[in-house]
Amino acid sequence: MTTTNRQVLLASRPQGGVTEDDFRIVETPVGKPDQGEVLVKNEWLSLDPYMRGRMNDVKSYVPPVQIGEVMVGQTVGEVILSRDPEFTSGDKVLTQLGWQLYGVARGGDIKKIDPKRAPASCYLGVLGMPGITAWFGLSEIGQPKAGETLVVSAASGAVGSVVGQLAKLNGCRVVGIAGGTTKCDYAVRELGFDACIDHKAGGLFEALRATCPAGVDVYFENVGGEMLDTMLRVLNPFSRIVVCGLIAEYNATEPYRSRNLRAVLVNRIRMQGMIVFDWKDRYGEAVKGLAGYLAEGKLKYRESVVHGIDNAPRGLIALLRGENFGKQLVKLA
Ligand SMILES: NC(=O)c1ccc[n+]([C@@H]2O[C@H](COP(=O)([O-])OP(=O)(O)OC[C@H]3O[C@@H](n4cnc5c(N)ncnc54)[C@H](OP(=O)(O)O)[C@@H]3O)[C@@H](O)[C@H]2O)c1
Repeated sequence: MTTTNRQVLLASRPQGGVTEDDFRIVETPVGKPDQGEVLVKNEWLSLDPYMRGRMNDVKSYVPPVQIGEVMVGQTVGEVILSRDPEFTSGDKVLTQLGWQLYGVARGGDIKKIDPKRAPASCYLGVLGMPGITAWFGLSEIGQPKAGETLVVSAASGAVGSVVGQLAKLNGCRVVGIAGGTTKCDYAVRELGFDACIDHKAGGLFEALRATCPAGVDVYFENVGGEMLDTMLRVLNPFSRIVVCGLIAEYNATEPYRSRNLRAVLVNRIRMQGMIVFDWKDRYGEAVKGLAGYLAEGKLKYRESVVHGIDNAPRGLIALLRGENFGKQLVKLA
């Protein structure tokens, strides 16, 4: 077994867009597990938009990464040495070990996954945090009813693709918003959405009016900024907005100033933010439901993979520019 670990540390806090200089790659000795701990060899690292927020030194729902610390992130890996009776070498596990090839974790902080149920990478995407976010955000906050029109932004992405497919299974008319014709074609032809609007083509408001003649009842927001402001103009009375993510604003140095908030008042729109952790005691329920649909072929997914830990910074930068197409992952082994 190798004795050298490779880690990506936060080197500086980005101002605006993230650059590769904001990271530092180091080699360190592989850690040794104490009693109750395991050594994990990471195989897949998840890259997620929330990581941009952790690079800022601001108060949020979780503390930021400190300069010189390993970047945070979920991984799927294999236990290679266990000093916890609950785990044995060869177990595949979901961890929070972050951007590194090896890590020592407390047994209570990792979770066994079943690679026979689905490929290991799925536990970071469709059966992982993004899928669970879609599941609870849609059912608990969006509360779609059959026959309603639902719009979801970042429609081909990790969260958006699951939201749209679940809403179709709920009997909704589903319209995606995505960047470019390739992503839009995928949402309609592969994921079964009723329509998908290319936000890069311009004229979003007119396209929404044409595509949603009966207005919009549920808007699942992954993007924010001007897109959210435009959506406010097409939402129906008593509609719901699930504020899941605002990726268009994560690199911004100035907050976006909404012009159409009046619509919330006039149309009695319910707008609620969500953080997936709020349902942490019920994750199993979502994973069971999502795995069932996956097994039945009712849930499709796509992955964008960069290879090697050294390319993780490039992968995150691409994700934050919207260059990914599906769940963004780093293949480590
Ligand atoms: N609240 C929670 O608990 C929670 C949990 C997970 C994720 N989220 C949020 O959910 C959203 C989607 O996350 P994800 O992991 O599924 O990512 P993703 O959708 O797979 O990837 C991000 C996508 O955002 C779209 N995008 C639109 N405008 C953008 C802009 N100005 N800059 C960059 N990207 C832009 C891009 O798709 P197009 O090219 O199609 O526009 C891009 O591919 C994010 O806002 C994330 O923060 C929230």
